[in-house]
Amino acid sequence: MPVLAIDAGTTGVTALVVGEDGAVLARGYREFAQLFPRPGWVEHEPEDIWTATLAACRQALAGTDAQPTCVGITDQRETAVVWDRRTGRAPRPAIVWQDRRTTGICDRLREAGHEDRVAELTGLRLDPYFTGTTFCWLAAEEPSLWAGVRDGRLALGTVDSFVVSRLTGGAVYVTDPSNACRTLLYDLEAGGWSEELCALFDVPRSALPEVVPSSGVVGTTNPDAFLGLRLPVAGIAGDQQAALFGQACYSPGTSKCTYGTGSFVLTNTGATPVRSGAGLLTTVAWDLGDGLVYALEGSIFVTGAAVQWLRDGLGLIDSAAEIEGLARTVPDSGDVVFVPALTGMGAPHWDPHARGAIVGLTRGTTRAHLARATLEAIAFEVRDVVDVMVDEAGLEVPELSADGGASANDLLLQLQADQLGVPVRRPVVTETTALGAAFLAGLGTGVWSTTDELAATWSLDRRFEPVPGRRDDGRHDRWRAGLTRAGGWAR
Ligand code: G3P
Repeated sequence: MPVLAIDAGTTGVTALVVGEDGAVLARGYREFAQLFPRPGWVEHEPEDIWTATLAACRQALAGTDAQPTCVGITDQRETAVVWDRRTGRAPRPAIVWQDRRTTGICDRLREAGHEDRVAELTGLRLDPYFTGTTFCWLAAEEPSLWAGVRDGRLALGTVDSFVVSRLTGGAVYVTDPSNACRTLLYDLEAGGWSEELCALFDVPRSALPEVVPSSGVVGTTNPDAFLGLRLPVAGIAGDQQAALFGQACYSPGTSKCTYGTGSFVLTNTGATPVRSGAGLLTTVAWDLGDGLVYALEGSIFVTGAAVQWLRDGLGLIDSAAEIEGLARTVPDSGDVVFVPALTGMGAPHWDPHARGAIVGLTRGTTRAHLARATLEAIAFEVRDVVDVMVDEAGLEVPELSADGGASANDLLLQLQADQLGVPVRRPVVTETTALGAAFLAGLGTGVWSTTDELAATWSLDRRFEPVPGRRDDGRHDRWRAGLTRAGGWAR
């Protein structure tokens, strides 16, 4: 009984057909346009996301004779979408989680003394990253659109809700707790939309989707809307939580890092929401219908995107995969530090005014040193959030499971193990985000019965052991010095 998974990510949509043994039977992928209407603004056309979803699914389904029995959805989180409930069409582009336009709104709310209460209720912080501030911006800047939200003509949600709505021909308007908890409107411990937060961010509670468990049937795809298919929609989760699920991190204390556009480290903390006073987020991992499971998260905004910038911005490499070979031609970065704060800094520093910096250049610096400094930067960024998890939040991270596109890079994972001082393990299937969505949907329809069965499908590709002495060889201290130079640059 195969499962179709849709991963509506930040730069493109992936579709997988997953077999009962957890193997990927077929895949499809379609990129969509990134819109940068002003410096610091990032938008997507929802219609592009939907067209890419159809194309990716068509490609995956054409690659196998297996007929999926249900569908799971995972998505780039926090991105704000507005669409017409009747037609499914969006009157304006989606505002993406990377967009910095609400920095001023966050500053004003902070100055008015709201940060502590927001953090207490949501486990998050006041940062443009989260959807609530974007909704607040739309309410203030686009009053005629907002009138449509208030009178119920327009739906308001994240990408998961939009995709489910389109899959079902407009019949279903839902989200799951792992997405809802990233909006700044969801009460993390009470487990539902918060009237207090809706009032603070000026969002009518009635405009928000119903919150349903992450696993279980919520509706059926409409064959007229979705490739002639009538499939139960049975799994929904934000992409980072889906990756935690796909990595079989089901017991408290298990951790994964997904290396994508950004990198996101999540540790399962079970039924207990663990709080951090040092820059990590408390988040819902999933709800299998028997209560919320929580995670502690370190959200790093730019990692793979830094490699893309070397390729597209500087023309230093022709493809992202080239970076490993180039970086291996030098033994180290020659003391060059690259701080890739290209869209500000996320965890654990949270500085929307930070900008990228490259320090330590000499006449001997080559593109190979820059390539190496970029991979080192990713490893340092991940170390910084894991160090906070261990030192401040008191969690143990005895090993880290790696996934996502850049986890194919052996040098990066070795640098990562060296910086963390613990092993990093890579599974055979590294598209764990989509895999997690497939698992949630299959668990909701009886393809699998327990998480133990899912865990049994996980298999190791390679384990990277830390080289003794590397964690404390002084490079991380230089990285910290570089960070202070990038901080606050655009203030
Ligand atoms: O929080 C943002 C995150 O969910 C985006 O992930 O993989 O689409 O860059 P990705």
